[in-house]
Amino acid sequence: MLLDEKYNEVRDMIKKFSDAEIGPRAMGIDHDGEMPKDIIAKLAENGFLGSYIPEEFGGAGLDYLSYALLIEELSRNCASTGVFVSAHTSLCVWPILNFGTDAQKKKFLPKLASGEWIGCFALSEPNAGSDAGSLTTMAEDKGDHWEINGVKNWITNGKEANVAIVFAKTKKTPDYKGISAFIVETSSPGFSIIKIEDKLGIRGSSTAQLAFDKVKVPKDALLGDPEKGFRVAMATLDGGRIGIAAQALGIAQGAFTYAAKYVKERVQFGAPLANLQGIQFMLADMSTKIASSRLLIYHASALKDAGRPYSKESAQAKLMASESAMWVTTKAIQLCGGNGYTKEYPVERYFRDAKITEIYEGTSEVQRMVIAANELKDLQ
Ligand code: CAA
Repeated sequence: MLLDEKYNEVRDMIKKFSDAEIGPRAMGIDHDGEMPKDIIAKLAENGFLGSYIPEEFGGAGLDYLSYALLIEELSRNCASTGVFVSAHTSLCVWPILNFGTDAQKKKFLPKLASGEWIGCFALSEPNAGSDAGSLTTMAEDKGDHWEINGVKNWITNGKEANVAIVFAKTKKTPDYKGISAFIVETSSPGFSIIKIEDKLGIRGSSTAQLAFDKVKVPKDALLGDPEKGFRVAMATLDGGRIGIAAQALGIAQGAFTYAAKYVKERVQFGAPLANLQGIQFMLADMSTKIASSRLLIYHASALKDAGRPYSKESAQAKLMASESAMWVTTKAIQLCGGNGYTKEYPVERYFRDAKITEIYEGTSEVQRMVIAANELKDLQ
């Protein structure tokens, strides 16, 4: 896709930062299993935590396509850093920006833009994953405040977050209809982290189980209309899925570039592996899947920036990019052979990191449900 020159400038700027500051640290972040404080500070200093926040609230005021380029370029070196920024931006900043009152925007966005506060999104529960509408966390109206009780699972940035977008039922219903959204400060008494998951990949990104035990939140913590929280969640995930698609694209691109350089240099049977047609065919298929993902992601981002519907397109971008990332990273290990299977080489990390992109912010099966539902609706 031919991008306007301004996007090339944005990409070049992020690429420089990512290669200089993130690339050399990626293996260590994966090994240590946490997001280093100095990396968070550098992301904040460079404006990357407020990229999508308007300038009036202290952000860089970039559009969603630029934000997608940011996640792609960070994830090309380190998928943990990519999802740290993505969960903060698409899952916490965006719903406040889109559904928040002026007072909520003024209170939260400047701190989220500067990195003083980190954001997360608490929708899933032990028994409510793909069937998000069946969640059971309750928010009870206590007159002058809300009281939240429940447990949330698989919360990206759960360890670092100061602010959580929390979904809870304000009316007991068997389905999504009683769900409301809240902006909850994690310093509220009764909020705690139950555990941090030990994961296959994105090991530098925290994934937490959170407890809400009589958490008292002010009346003005309600985000959007009461009992319309499921719409807030679904609309937020429409944008979030573009972010995860961009993460998957970055992972695939990083693995491809590494493996392609490897086969150009690796001599077997008296010549570089890249001279073999069987290897070239593999590279061609990898490159084509990456290009297809990129087109879908930029297209979905452009629709979002133009204020056009993009629910189907974001699901298509995530489905294509995540399944391509899994395929491309598998082939990248194959191209690097025994070396690729070891932790001395980065391709096994890309492979482990790719898997989650087929699961979080809606599994590939959920993306297919969204795509099919939209296609069938469009036929009516
Ligand atoms: N935007 C706005 N509203 C939407 C919407 C959208 N894209 N899609 C649906 N809705 C609304 C509908 O209009 C309807 O509301 P009304 O009745 O008021 O009109 C309501 O939502 C229910 O719609 P459906 O009947 O289509 O919903 P459903 O119950 O059949 O669920 C689903 C559909 C696609 C399976 C949905 O449950 C879903 O997306 N599940 C996956 C959840 C998910 O992605 N979880 C990831 C959590 S975040 C995470 O991974 C952790 C992290 O920290 C990164």
